[in-house]
Amino acid sequence: MLQSRPKSVSAKSQAPSPFGPVPHIATTPPGPKAKGLIERDERYSSPSYTRDYPLVVKRALGSVVEDVDGNRYLDLAAGIAVCATGHCHPDVVAAITQQASNLIHICGSDFYYPPMVELMEKLSSITPGSGDKKVLLTNSGAEAVEAGFKLARHHTNRKYAISFHGAFHGRTMGALALTSSKARQKEKFSPLVPSHTHSPYTTAARSSNPDAHSSGSSHSPKPPSPSAASPSSWKTATGCTAETDNNSDQTAPPTSPAHQSSAS
Ligand SMILES: Cc1ncc(COP(=O)(O)O)c(C=O)c1O
Repeated sequence: MLQSRPKSVSAKSQAPSPFGPVPHIATTPPGPKAKGLIERDERYSSPSYTRDYPLVVKRALGSVVEDVDGNRYLDLAAGIAVCATGHCHPDVVAAITQQASNLIHICGSDFYYPPMVELMEKLSSITPGSGDKKVLLTNSGAEAVEAGFKLARHHTNRKYAISFHGAFHGRTMGALALTSSKARQKEKFSPLVPSHTHSPYTTAARSSNPDAHSSGSSHSPKPPSPSAASPSSWKTATGCTAETDNNSDQTAPPTSPAHQSSAS
């Protein structure tokens, strides 16, 4: 949100919010309370937390975030894509409150309980595709990637995986093997899970496929033709370099800024 000293915000460009007008700079961030908390944080927190800038959040509602010194910002990142409903949506707060007062944990891997069944039914009904679906609920993105990685091996009986330069998949050992975002994320953690290949993000495949350009979508390039579907020709089609089993600490740069992950 704030990378440098903010320009003053005119009253005209402010919007009302439950916390007061927004955006609103009460004191140049990081303010005194933020500085104090950052000092305490740095005393005890693992250096694995790679903060981008000194925003110390007190509370948030909808798209408004307020820091501990009373500065207010618009959160254009939706809680890093986790609060798509807006921060502290009343329905979400009510559901969390109700569940926490009924049952906090009994372990879904060992036992059954109604909200878990209901959530899996709901996810199954709203995800694309027909036919039976199975749901695995996980605690984090990295855990979901690990599960997908394992499931692909289990289901196909094949051991190789392809991921793209510039992609961030998480920091656990399997997910980190697939990640190719920033070199420092992998530094000193080799050997990671072997048998994977990093490829440029479909650049060559898209340029040889006129339909991919006319679709206007950067997310759904057409798959390679059947003749290009074998692992060896796929590598050629994508311009993939021989990185299989690459556990080096080096991470190739992304092919274009559009494919860079913001994850630190
Ligand atoms: C595309 C993608 N995959 C996986 C992850 C890892 O998620 P988590 O931090 O919840 O483990 C992230 C997190 O930024 C992500 O953006």
